[in-house]
Amino acid sequence: MNTKFRLGVLGSGKGSNFVAIADACAAGRVPAQVALVLSDVENAGILEQARARGIPARYIPPGPFRTKLDPDTERAYVQALKDAAVDLVVLAGFMRVLKSEFLNAFPGRIVNIHPSLLPAFPGLEAWKQALEHGVKVTGCTVHFVDAGVDTGPIIGQIAVPVLEDDTPETLHRRIQLAEHELYPKCIAAIARGELELRGRRVVWRSGGIAPELRYLVGSR
Ligand code: GRF
Repeated sequence: MNTKFRLGVLGSGKGSNFVAIADACAAGRVPAQVALVLSDVENAGILEQARARGIPARYIPPGPFRTKLDPDTERAYVQALKDAAVDLVVLAGFMRVLKSEFLNAFPGRIVNIHPSLLPAFPGLEAWKQALEHGVKVTGCTVHFVDAGVDTGPIIGQIAVPVLEDDTPETLHRRIQLAEHELYPKCIAAIARGELELRGRRVVWRSGGIAPELRYLVGSR
């Protein structure tokens, strides 16, 4: 019996964060395995990337709503994740808000990545919001998921500077590089039991890989 920490990854898009996580697991940098990938988009790149790695991947039709799952569909997602015995639900570009039945099925066991330094710029296209607002530094955040939109306790952040000639595309690309570094580190810390929740504060007991501030310039 394989006793590795099991991840269930949900995504709607190309799956670059999933790839970073799966590769970090395969390389032994994250003591976990991706047990299942689910998507609400039938032809999403994330499903293709999972299948290419031999990881079970399923499209579960999202139902009639645009920004959430209907209750029956939400139950189907929960069941699939329970059947796969996942220890942690990893949202990696999943474009729907999860409701209480889903949240209650995995208490304290759902994480998300967001392309800004929360609590600034929650919601859609956060890199565009940052550029339009005129901030000089933005970044990415990994956080536990609660009932709000991008409001849960913050696990880790990496700062990314906004450059004078940035476009939404160039800024988003650099933020994604930071995401690919941050998400596997945060998941590794969870899998190793290194995090402790004190109120809203997530404390890294290890101290070793505390969320760092890094300036990622170039690679555009
Ligand atoms: C990421 O930028 C993430 O911050 C946001 O959705 C995007 C997913 O990208 N939540 P990918 O599918 O992992 O490439």
